[in-house]
Amino acid sequence: MSEKIAVYPGSYDPITNGHVDIIKRGLKIFDKIIVAALENPSKCYLFSLEERLNILKECFKDQPAIEIDFFGGLLVEYLKLKKVGTVVRGLRAISDFEIEFQMALMNRSIEPEFETIFLVPSIKYSFVSSRLVKEVYKLGGEVTAMVPPLVDQKLKEKYAKK
Ligand code: PNS
Repeated sequence: MSEKIAVYPGSYDPITNGHVDIIKRGLKIFDKIIVAALENPSKCYLFSLEERLNILKECFKDQPAIEIDFFGGLLVEYLKLKKVGTVVRGLRAISDFEIEFQMALMNRSIEPEFETIFLVPSIKYSFVSSRLVKEVYKLGGEVTAMVPPLVDQKLKEKYAKK
């Protein structure tokens, strides 16, 4: 039987434990998850693409079922390139639904063959987002339970330098 593979795209600026939770859940359904970090030149990231990829690789270094990659441009073009037909996204709350629904339908209108599967994270991560995590660290706080230890360290280093 062929391997079941899904792409889990995102900005990962930085990865949170909410993302990690979705990846773990995804691996109950798929044999392999490709964690694909978006590089959008018009977006201002805290972590460069290289930093985001290094963090992702370090977080999943002992897990061969998780591949770390990046993409630019349209997600559907990346899916074609990788020959993968399924996208995984996390749905934390109703507020995520509208944008995720729009993105899934937009992707489908460009490429009808692809499917999007939504996974629900643990309730303890339902309010965790990369944006809020960055804001807390920027203002001198820390949320160590919400990010992998390496991300905690990198966020502290990043904001100590600024
Ligand atoms: O972690 P994020 O920022 O919520 O991830 C958003 C992402 C990367 C999944 C989304 O922005 C994306 O797929 N961008 C690629 C550009 C694209 O394909 N746009 C058209 C369909 S929405």
